[in-house]
Amino acid sequence: MKVSQKDTEKLMMMNLGTPNAGSGPQSRVLPRLLLWLILFVTVTYVVYTLRLISNSRACDHEPFSNPRRQISTTSTSASSQPTQSILDQDQAVEVRRQTTQIRNVVFGIAASAKFWEKRKNYIKLWFKPEEMRGIVWLDQTVKKNKTKDNKGDRVAVEEAEDLSLPPVMISGDTSKFSYTNRQGHRSAIRISRIVSETLRLGLEDVHWFVMGDDDTVFVTENLVRVLSKYDHNQYYYIGSLSESHLQNIYFSYGMAYGGGGFAISYPLAKALEKIQDRCIQRYPGLYGSDDRMQACMAELGVPLTKELGFHQYDVYGNLFGLLAAHPVAPLVSLHHLDVVEPIFPNVTQVKALQRLTKPMKLDSAGLMQQSICYDKSKRWTISVSWGFAVQVFRGVFSPREIEMPSRTFLNWYKKADYTAYAFNTRPVFRNQCQKPFVFYMSNARLNSSTHQTVSEYVRHRVPHPPCKWKMADPTKLDRVEVYKKPDPHLWDRSPRRNCCRVMESGKKGTMVINVGVCREGEISEI
Ligand SMILES: *[C@@H]1O[C@H](CO)[C@@H](O)[C@H](O)[C@H]1NC(C)=O
Ligand SMILES: *[C@@H]1O[C@H](CO)[C@@H](O)[C@H](O)[C@H]1NC(C)=O
Ligand SMILES: *[C@@H]1O[C@H](CO)[C@@H](O)[C@H](O)[C@H]1NC(C)=O
Repeated sequence: MKVSQKDTEKLMMMNLGTPNAGSGPQSRVLPRLLLWLILFVTVTYVVYTLRLISNSRACDHEPFSNPRRQISTTSTSASSQPTQSILDQDQAVEVRRQTTQIRNVVFGIAASAKFWEKRKNYIKLWFKPEEMRGIVWLDQTVKKNKTKDNKGDRVAVEEAEDLSLPPVMISGDTSKFSYTNRQGHRSAIRISRIVSETLRLGLEDVHWFVMGDDDTVFVTENLVRVLSKYDHNQYYYIGSLSESHLQNIYFSYGMAYGGGGFAISYPLAKALEKIQDRCIQRYPGLYGSDDRMQACMAELGVPLTKELGFHQYDVYGNLFGLLAAHPVAPLVSLHHLDVVEPIFPNVTQVKALQRLTKPMKLDSAGLMQQSICYDKSKRWTISVSWGFAVQVFRGVFSPREIEMPSRTFLNWYKKADYTAYAFNTRPVFRNQCQKPFVFYMSNARLNSSTHQTVSEYVRHRVPHPPCKWKMADPTKLDRVEVYKKPDPHLWDRSPRRNCCRVMESGKKGTMVINVGVCREGEISEI
């Protein structure tokens, strides 16, 4: 936007330059020319103003409107006057529309010295110090590394500041607060105060404070997509619930779970900071930091705005079922990464998440988005979770079944009791022929000549129960190739799953799938 403004200034100067170039001998013609010019200017001005007034509403709502395009059409006018006035109005529209960018977000990360060595690697996966601002709040300084000096004595040395991480600060003393919960830990008070402590640093141009844990990974582009839907000048408390119905009953169905991350708009953080210490004193019996936060939000009268892309993941075992059937909402965060199995098999969690950053860079809006289609001739159901995994099932499942997460995980009480979720689930398979063939994403790249992403998924080789169905056998497939155009404006439109289509494949053992916006009349049907 800034670049395009400069461009227009250049264009305007070129336009002004043309009449001047011919000046000199024709000085008597000049007054008349000027008169005509003024007349022309006035008429153009009036016409443009009228057009602008009648169009401005439509412009505001056009999701793909491109200020650069508008400017290049206006620059054909002969004089600087109308161009300038349109520019001013354009900028006014721009300012009103001005939404959150990543530099307007400040992260407050709750960490503890005890786990820092391990968990800082999760933060390194997503935090980009050149673009982002944030503070890691620790309970105490991390133990200095002991090393030998040149006399051979062991001396403490400061750990070199890791420039790929946010700056680390030590939380203020909370010993004066009372904490009476028998199951919890009083560090909850310290963590609850992170928003206020971060606000007091007085950083400028902040729209949102976003809280997360040291074992939370954010998809920051999607975080910005979600936050920019809301007016940061108003009071907003945005986050999501626990997967566990019991946790939600015990804590609250109106609470943002801290590990999944939540956002507090700047004016709300200011209002909170004024009351938070007094408020915390009123709830010594609460368990954690996030219920203390919600208690203060309730005092302020601000409800939770739920956004389904924040994931607390209060579950054990394998997240596969949840990730393969992500809700139709941008993926914002993943939490409890030390608790659940690595999201890709046979690698460490950090390695697995590193792999996920590849499709994330290519098309963050589409990451983990599910599409459902059928191979008509083979009578297979295919579910794509873009950038993560593809599943092939023998037989036909309806979309309403496949869009439910399969129960690959245990609940927060480590039980396979599925009556206690706050959402619908389905069994992994009912008939042994219908155990899904899973293909995990192994690589993703952009074909720059076709402007399409190409992601590859390799079959996870696990034993399958014998099947007597007379039907094409998916064991013959080794890999799946998915073609998809990046779609950064996916969430500017109403939520809808993409469509997928099984394409002709030239290569043996490879299935080729195309994913994209559903065409007119196209639905998931066989
Ligand atoms: C401590 O210092 C030693 C020697 O410089 C190094 O090998 C080791 O990785 C350091 N440990 C940590 C935790 O930084
Ligand atoms: C996982 O890795 C081990 C050793 O690297 C290998 O033997 C095993 O086959 C792998 N399992 C899968 C499912 O890829
Ligand atoms: C990109 O796609 C074109 C057309 O399908 C293909 O010919 C080309 O080899 C692809 N390039 C890469 C780098 O995959």
